[in-house]
Amino acid sequence: MKVAIIGAYQTKFGELWDKSLADLIFEASVGALADSRMPAKKIQIAFFGNKLGPQTTSQNHLSALVAQLLGVSIPVIRVEAACASGGVALSQACLAIESGQYDTALVLGAEKMTDQSPAQIAQALMGAASSQEREAGLTFPGLYALMAGKYLNDFGAKETDLAGVSVKNHFHASLNSKAQFQFPVTIDQVMKSGEVASPLKLLDCSPITDGAAGLVLASPRFAQKRQKKNIYIRASQHFTDTLSLSKRQSFTEIPSAKKAAKKAFIQAGVEPSEVSLAEVHDCFTIAEILALEDLGFYQKGEGFLAVRNGQVKLGGTRPVNLSGGLKACGHPVGATGVKQVVELYNQLLGRAGKKQTRKAKVGLAHNIGGTGGTAVVHIITK
Ligand code: COA
Repeated sequence: MKVAIIGAYQTKFGELWDKSLADLIFEASVGALADSRMPAKKIQIAFFGNKLGPQTTSQNHLSALVAQLLGVSIPVIRVEAACASGGVALSQACLAIESGQYDTALVLGAEKMTDQSPAQIAQALMGAASSQEREAGLTFPGLYALMAGKYLNDFGAKETDLAGVSVKNHFHASLNSKAQFQFPVTIDQVMKSGEVASPLKLLDCSPITDGAAGLVLASPRFAQKRQKKNIYIRASQHFTDTLSLSKRQSFTEIPSAKKAAKKAFIQAGVEPSEVSLAEVHDCFTIAEILALEDLGFYQKGEGFLAVRNGQVKLGGTRPVNLSGGLKACGHPVGATGVKQVVELYNQLLGRAGKKQTRKAKVGLAHNIGGTGGTAVVHIITK
């Protein structure tokens, strides 16, 4: 497949007290359009990733809100797939362009989370889990703690290996002016941060975040008329799985992600070893280690070693989560899947600032909803 990215933008992520959901959507739209040097009236269809809007802002009918903010009357589709809402919005936009019906599409992701108390947000997020999990009193930190506990038990990794993911991603975020937490942390600080759901501690968790991101997509024909060299999405794969973690055969892999990755590599015609950088869904530190294995970058049970020996850090063989990941750049749930591709696009264009990696040629984005009920993988190349 071949869908061009011609513009990208990310708002600052964090506790943005002065910004509403509408402000965030507007800023991401205007930013992505300005980057593509196109007016809103040239956009033919838009997809908007958002999970919590109706709960956190009492606003339904968000597609019409997006149209109003853009000043257009094109089709706008809100996409909800838990924390993979942004990734699924992007995959739907790719399908729209690939169908030949549309030459241009705007993809947005936005979430306003910090106006609610942490307890309200935890409850709202659990809407993405099963009723049995909710009734059992589980939270997402609790669910991922079950996965982490099993992984540590089965593969001989240590809690300090989980902490290593946080240390790496906080380091990357310290180089990112858009990140929520722009400070480095040490293994000792992670280990001493309060326990949230054993073995996960505060600094193993992604935070509650406000933020938005946008991408402008175009058909190759449209993009080539504007400039000869473009960045292209070469694979877009979306799979689902059971809503409940308990219905899966294993706690230490995410089958939907494995399927999406396998098919994406075939679609793009690249091998895992050819990926030069990746943004993966590290909602909790264990999730990045599982992603490194599910994507085929490392053997089962060896992902933690890649973190331990620095292979996935800036300057390593294949840097992962140069944005700071969900852990430290922040996780405004509906925006995350879009922001991951904004980061890859900026890296491939060589405009990622202090966190720029050398030789960025093939980028992969891995976005998960819930504990893996949804998984989306995109591969982009120069
Ligand atoms: N990483 C680093 N620092 C964090 C943090 C995180 N994940 N979460 C909060 N903090 C910091 C805050 O900035 C604040 O610092 P300050 O005192 O210097 O201002 C301090 O910790 C306390 O913040 P608070 O909001 O009271 O934390 P909390 O204990 O209510 O919430 C979590 C912490 C981890 C429970 C919450 O961030 C959370 O639920 N994260 C998971 C979100 C999630 O499930 N997403 C979906 C994934 S599938």
